[in-house]
This record gives sequence, C-alpha cells and structure tokens, in this order.
Amino acid sequence: MITGPDYPHEVEVIAVDGPGGSGKGTISQRLAEHLGWNLLDSGALYRLTALAVIKNNVDPKDESGLQSMATAMDIRFEVCGSHTRALLDGSDVSDRIRLEEVGVLASKIAAIAGVRAALVERQRRFRQPPGLVADGRDMGTVIFPDAKLKIFLTASAEIRAQRRYKQLKDKGESVNLTRLFREIKARDVRDQSRRIAPLRPAEDAVIIDSTNLNIEEVFNKVCGIV
Ligand code: C5P
Repeated sequence: MITGPDYPHEVEVIAVDGPGGSGKGTISQRLAEHLGWNLLDSGALYRLTALAVIKNNVDPKDESGLQSMATAMDIRFEVCGSHTRALLDGSDVSDRIRLEEVGVLASKIAAIAGVRAALVERQRRFRQPPGLVADGRDMGTVIFPDAKLKIFLTASAEIRAQRRYKQLKDKGESVNLTRLFREIKARDVRDQSRRIAPLRPAEDAVIIDSTNLNIEEVFNKVCGIV
C-alpha cells in the first residue's frame, strides 16, 4: 500500500507497462485523451534525468551524486493542446530526450536504486483527478501497485526494432536497423535483469502481444478491457 498524505488513492490509475517499441506510448496517450485523464510518461522522466546527468556532468557511476541531482533537478511537463513539452531548467528539450543515446543512458541510470528512489515521489504526484494513465516499466508493480487496471504490452524485438526504425526514418534521422535491433535487445536485457523494479508484468496484469496487431487493433482491445 502506498502511504503518504499527498496521494489521492480514490483517483483511479490505469498502468500501461512494457518494453520500448511495444506501442505503449501511443496507446497510453490515446487512452488518456479518450478518457480525459492525466498522462504520466515515466520514460520521459528517466530521459530528462539522463539529459540532466549530461548537462550537469555527473558521473553516471556516482550513485549518491546521481540521487541528489535527480532529487533537486528542475524538470517539468507542459501540456500544449495534444502535445506535451518536456522542460529541463526551463528549456524545451522534448526533441533531445528522444535521441537514441539519451534513451541508452536513461536505461543505464534507471538501474541505479538511488535514481529510482528519487523519482518515485515525482511520479506519484501525477495521480490527480479525474484519473491517470501511467506509462512505463514498473507502473503496475512498484509505482501504482493499487492501479485499477494493469496492462502489459509486448511485441517481438524484431517488430519493435522495425517500428522504431520507421519512426526515426520518418523524422529524417539516419538509422541502421541491425544496430537498432541490437540496442533494443541490450536495453531489454538491462531493463529485465536489473535488481530494482525489473521490467515484468504485474501478477494481475492483462498481457497483450502487439506483434501481429496494428495500433488501431491494440487500442480497440485496450478500450474493450477498460
Ligand atoms: O520508455 P522509454 O524508452 O522512454 O524509457 C527510457 C528508459 O527509461 C527505459 O529503457 C528504461 O530503462 C527506463 N524506464 C524505467 N522505468 C520506467 C520508465 C522508463 O526504468 N518506468
């Protein structure tokens, strides 16, 4: 049970967890819009932390330095229509946090207990009326174990690499599919094997494999469950 005075437990949470490229980001965003609920993109929080590590020149191996920085850093999300801007020290870094190298560093520092501990409170504060769709790796297992509904979205590493390849290509970035596939596999291993909050479905999660489904089909499935 989560304790603390600031968490309105009566506010419902839908947790959407899964590996990168499983479609959980798109699904969570559409679901939050559909329900008129708040959205927590916890991956963006880890990416912002990674960017703050780079900006402040913190040694990624210095656990206490990382923890103090993650506790004190000035990060914010600003909703502008259907788009959410990520701010670090007041500057818009929405595009920079999506860079592959930032994702890789995010996944490395996410394995550090002090960093995860520093981000717990920040994530739980998103639980505000009328409800919250929380997208991440440990939403249903650690951050919101009392979530009303837990969805675990997965897909084969091959298809996730192809989706990511298309996304980056559409953005005009030069990418290599084989390298992306290798990075996705490496990130899966890191996320699944870390000691703290490893990526795994909660016992009461509904598992959806999106390997052979398009985003519309996944969304319809999720809405059916909701
Ligand atoms: O989901 P996204 O790719 O943006 O997340 C970046 C990294 O942050 C992930 O690879 C994962 O290691 C970490 N992360 C996490 N727990 C979360 C969300 C993200 O460890 N709840």
